[in-house]
Amino acid sequence: MEWTTKQRYTRIEEVTPQELQALENQVNESPWRQTFHIQPVTGLLNDPNGFSFYNGEYHLFYQWFPLGPVHGIKYWYHTKSKNLTSWENVGIAIRPNDEIDSHGAYSGSAIEYNNELYLMYTGNTRDENWVRHPYQNMAVMDADGAITKWANPVINHVPSGYTDHFRDPKVWKEQDTFYAVIGAQRTDETGCIVLYSSPNMKDWTFEGEVNTNMETFGYMWECPDYFTINGQGILVFSPQGLAPDGDKYHNIYQSGYCLGNLDVKTKTMTHSEFIELDRGFDFYAPQSMEAPDGRRIMVGWMGLPEVDYPTDKHGWAHCLTLPREISIEKGKLMQRPVRELELKRGTKVEAEDVLKNESKSFDGFYGSSFELIAEFINADADSFGIEFRVSEQEKTVLLYDAAQKKVVLDRSNSGAPVGTAFGTSRQCILDATKLKFHLFVDTSSVEIFVNDGEEVFTSRIFPDKESIGIRFFAHSGQASCKAVKWTIGG
Ligand code: FRU
Repeated sequence: MEWTTKQRYTRIEEVTPQELQALENQVNESPWRQTFHIQPVTGLLNDPNGFSFYNGEYHLFYQWFPLGPVHGIKYWYHTKSKNLTSWENVGIAIRPNDEIDSHGAYSGSAIEYNNELYLMYTGNTRDENWVRHPYQNMAVMDADGAITKWANPVINHVPSGYTDHFRDPKVWKEQDTFYAVIGAQRTDETGCIVLYSSPNMKDWTFEGEVNTNMETFGYMWECPDYFTINGQGILVFSPQGLAPDGDKYHNIYQSGYCLGNLDVKTKTMTHSEFIELDRGFDFYAPQSMEAPDGRRIMVGWMGLPEVDYPTDKHGWAHCLTLPREISIEKGKLMQRPVRELELKRGTKVEAEDVLKNESKSFDGFYGSSFELIAEFINADADSFGIEFRVSEQEKTVLLYDAAQKKVVLDRSNSGAPVGTAFGTSRQCILDATKLKFHLFVDTSSVEIFVNDGEEVFTSRIFPDKESIGIRFFAHSGQASCKAVKWTIGG
């Protein structure tokens, strides 16, 4: 169904409770509803926003268009959790009902200040000629969870040299100063990041552009994030407009990071190359926060813009990824599922075998929603790995190609097709003879952490609900395999 502009800009407040209930009923019939991921009740979810810990709880907001699976007028929806694992739907946090956000409350971040949680976000507006004007706005949440929007933007214009693609403030604090990075596009249509500072979250000064050595690297950088881990600076952003390059950049848009310290005085960053955070099909616009115990935790949008998904016809689209812990080990960025996810573990099965040019299942190894750890040691197999969500017609394949030293995820037979114009397999180099695959499989997704977080593959898959087989294989030779699987409790 084509959505008219009028439909995309219809607000949730304009529809009746009966209409909303009908939408929700339609969504609940979808065979691909997730069981342990944050997903919208109806409509479309995109970027994680305002990820923070405040008043004893984690808060995670997301971009939301309530009325259908399209990028219509965006709200902030609020979820919260005590343990990063069981999330409670709180409700709408920011409604785009004011002149300064009349065409969408776009992405932003949160920080605690004076015992309240400050939510800094982009208010998207359009003038009578449909030209976009972004403002950077503030909303403040008190300890009772009441959110008050400020009447005036805190940044009310785009500095000269940049277009109206100017959004997604991410705030942090150094000593007594707040800093915000904002994703921007120069007037020559190249992407970059700019820096602002503030003593009080209210008065913001434009410091200038962050100087990197990526002068021409895509046409827009969305959702920047800057943080340090043990003194190592990390700049994360989502550039648009990169062309595929070998195994890299095959999704419509990318998300990745550079290691390097941002000197806020000189706005200069000496940094490593840009590395994709995730090697899968569906990962974009991630945001991170620091947990009370100092861990750096990141969540991404498990989806991409401008791609149709099979759930569209059921009135909803997308979910968030599981929270992952980011660390730097021996100079390399590692990503692991947060340990709190162990709280979800249910019934456990284990198996161990030497696979000799064969593909086999083990007792109790099946399911549509589970956690699985499989450790392989290769002897002389050409390739080995796991097939999951298997039926006669369908399977999703994760393998290690020993000759090419590549991890490969193949969703060409995963079920209902998605984004096939961008290819149906993803791969990356990883030089190892021991491979540990840690999978979280939900009704319509998989997150794969390889060798304790050296690489991650995050993808939506849309199998039939009867496709629940799990098989382990080694081709043209032998590999040993040790596997453990848990059911995941709701
Ligand atoms: C990234 C993004 C952001 C913007 C938001 C709008 O997916 O385009 O740049 O703030 O989504 O929903």
